[in-house]
Amino acid sequence: MIPDVLKEALQRQIAATDHPREQVMDVVFALQDSFGYLSDELLEEAASLLGMTPLEVEEIATFYEFIYRKPVGEYVIHVCDGVVCWMQEYQSVLNYLRKKLNIDYGQTTTDGRFTLLPTCCIGYCDRAPAMMINRKVYGKLTPERIDEILERLER
Ligand code: FES
Repeated sequence: MIPDVLKEALQRQIAATDHPREQVMDVVFALQDSFGYLSDELLEEAASLLGMTPLEVEEIATFYEFIYRKPVGEYVIHVCDGVVCWMQEYQSVLNYLRKKLNIDYGQTTTDGRFTLLPTCCIGYCDRAPAMMINRKVYGKLTPERIDEILERLER
């Protein structure tokens, strides 16, 4: 259940627009940021706030790969498998992350810290290979750089 403070903030945001459904991504991301993923219950509450059906919100939520319908780790690592990254060491980046975290795509580390997922091009082609962690993009990845990035994430 959405806490009153967040619900009221979302209601104000939705009321400020002529077309409430335009706010669907903002609402869904706000809920995901607060709860980690978009549960069925949250999806239904989002639909209610927006005046949409749960199915309409579900269609959007399952279209975008950065909306999580299942629990994920504290940090979600999306490795870019776009064509430029493919040509620039994508496979070695993926293999390094798989080995370092001991997980494969779609899995979460046992401590709940990291989830590994693929993504299509994230617009960092000039700095390929690239990945995104919790919506922050990192490029020019090497094993050493990956170690640095993961080490700097807050505990
Ligand atoms: S193909 Fe990977 S960032 Fe564009």
